[in-house]
Amino acid sequence: MARPVAICVVGSGYVGLIAAVSFAEIGHKVVCVDNDPARVKTLHEGRAPIYEHLLPELLAKHGGRRVEFTTDLGLAVRKSDAVFIAVGTPQGDTGAADLSYVEAVVSEIARSIDAYKVIVEKSTVPVYTNEWVRRVLYRHGVGPKSFDVVSNPEFLREGTAVLDFLHPDRIVVGVGTERAAELMRRIYDPLTSGSYYSQPDALRGTCNTSNPARLLVTSAQSAEIIKHASNAFLALKISFINAVANLAEAVEADIEDIAAGVGMDSRIGPKFLRAGLGYGGSCFPKDVAAFHCVAQEQRIDFQLLDEVRKINDRQRDVFFNKVLSALWTLRGKRLAALGLAFKGGTDDIRESPAIAVIKTLLDAGAKIAAYDPAAMDRAMTVLPQAENLHYAQDAYEASKNADAVLILTDWKEFAELDLVRLRESVRFPIVIDGRNLYTRQAMIDHDFTYVSFGRPDVPSGAMHPAGAMTESFGARNIQ
Ligand code: UDX
Repeated sequence: MARPVAICVVGSGYVGLIAAVSFAEIGHKVVCVDNDPARVKTLHEGRAPIYEHLLPELLAKHGGRRVEFTTDLGLAVRKSDAVFIAVGTPQGDTGAADLSYVEAVVSEIARSIDAYKVIVEKSTVPVYTNEWVRRVLYRHGVGPKSFDVVSNPEFLREGTAVLDFLHPDRIVVGVGTERAAELMRRIYDPLTSGSYYSQPDALRGTCNTSNPARLLVTSAQSAEIIKHASNAFLALKISFINAVANLAEAVEADIEDIAAGVGMDSRIGPKFLRAGLGYGGSCFPKDVAAFHCVAQEQRIDFQLLDEVRKINDRQRDVFFNKVLSALWTLRGKRLAALGLAFKGGTDDIRESPAIAVIKTLLDAGAKIAAYDPAAMDRAMTVLPQAENLHYAQDAYEASKNADAVLILTDWKEFAELDLVRLRESVRFPIVIDGRNLYTRQAMIDHDFTYVSFGRPDVPSGAMHPAGAMTESFGARNIQ
């Protein structure tokens, strides 16, 4: 393996913390800085402040050895050759990314630089941020020979972030000088040479010694755009399939068959074609908006991105109408809400479609029993337990005496419910699935009324004992 590099990671959020422990995992010496002493204390104690697969294992393996945690940015910068900035870039009022945290960190780094450093943007930032970082450093009197600025965007998905880091589809390095490129190649060498994958205790994933990670070197601007364009394109794929799903529903076609057929085209691919409640999370909504702002600033017409957002927002209304359509009125109805996180495998509720839907249902007078395997504590901070909102211990308790069961998040355990037990719990056997987790046949077999996205509803005699209606009643698309 190439010589280890002394790395400082600023920020111990989703991106920073995963990068820190993963750099340690591939052999580097890492100092991870956060200005929140409580968070640093938690990390010192070896506890993971976020729910992320394999993070506790890597913290236990490297914490206090190859990765240290501190609030002292100056010391961490002085000890390091490369400084990765992984602080938040939240959405500002205009939709553009708010870069004030990045600027504050760069100013502090500037005060601590005592030798050549490579400053790396890891946070998702708009194009030309590298240029701004450079200017801020100059303003603080740091000479051009003392640093290089590199853009090295992260493509981690929550829930699989560690494996995404160690087994990336690609590593993008946007860099202007050979000196900085050389250090970046050295940092990622264990992944690009495959030496990491040959270690007996390496975490297994898609890469291996004969198929190591690929590193693409570009200009800093190109790297910044690669990140925004990648997320915007994935969001577009989801909105596209959701628009097709609404069409499929109108003509009684099946979106699952359509997605399979479209996805078999190797130019399109099968991933990110799952129809449903749409995307949420800390990246897609923010990045689609920020990328649109970047285009507007350059006077480029990129309305397509606004359409992507609109289609995504509309899916929540489509779902609400499905609930209304199945239940007629909502006041006093008991609904089981399965899922609070923005997707399965995480406790993150940022921009979660599930939370947005629950708020609308509560406003409409419904009583909700909610359950999520990981996100309940976080959800309680925005939706406190109340007379009309109860948090349940599991999916079956949530479904007890429910007028309908709503699936809002694609947790694996919601796709594997014991349907016999579920049917015994509910008052009426109605499942409204915002994530298309079941086949229609499974629901027919268990005699549920089943409403999903882009597929014909499964009617149920049980819903209308008199047998007067075979379809779910009420008008479609109320509102
Ligand atoms: C995303 C990108 O995948 C990652 O590369 C980037 O670094 C950060 O943003 P993440 O937000 O963790 O990662 O979630 P992802 O798995 O991409 O899902 C995003 C959202 O899209 C979720 O709400 C998910 O439920 C939804 N989704 C995804 C769909 O609705 N349909 C799909 O087919 C795929």
